[in-house]
Amino acid sequence: SDFTQEEKQFIVNLWSKIDVGQIGGEALARLLIVYPWTQRFFSSFGNLSSASAILHNPKVLAHGKKVLTSFGDAVKNLDHINETFAHLSELHCDKLHVDPENFKLLGLVLIIILALHFGKEFTPASQAAWQKLINAVAHALSLRYH
Ligand code: HEM
Repeated sequence: SDFTQEEKQFIVNLWSKIDVGQIGGEALARLLIVYPWTQRFFSSFGNLSSASAILHNPKVLAHGKKVLTSFGDAVKNLDHINETFAHLSELHCDKLHVDPENFKLLGLVLIIILALHFGKEFTPASQAAWQKLINAVAHALSLRYH
């Protein structure tokens, strides 16, 4: 997908204010709470027995940070997202067998966490640009599936 200059600005501007540890951790935790079937991929992460356990699980928080940090590669390569995520697509498909539907769910919760953190600053135009980015990343991650 092609990003306009304006969309790129919304994406880069908000990205510069994002604490990947905090936002990434909260996003992955919320995914596991709201869509509990996603927990099956993280059985090695220890205690996921309640919302509170998930929100305080250091492995969940660390992995959420890792996932959102890799979104930074998309932000830095907005014109080459498919190539940027080719390797991760292979990993999630061939090794992890994560259903691509889950990428969209993570995107949904990420939008909600951004809205919670940035409030009015997360304007409709900013949301639209971020939704487009998230869709592009989810699409790129799905390309290796067959
Ligand atoms: C691992 C990115 C979504 C399941 C990873 C890694 C990254 C990543 C960077 C680490 C790869 C490595 O160690 O080399 C992303 C991005 C996503 C996404 C950018 C954006 C949508 C998901 C979703 C699930 C998932 C939705 C499952 C519901 C996993 C699992 C691992 C992993 C199970 C391995 C965890 C471990 O045992 O360390 N992902 N991921 N990912 N991802 Fe994703």
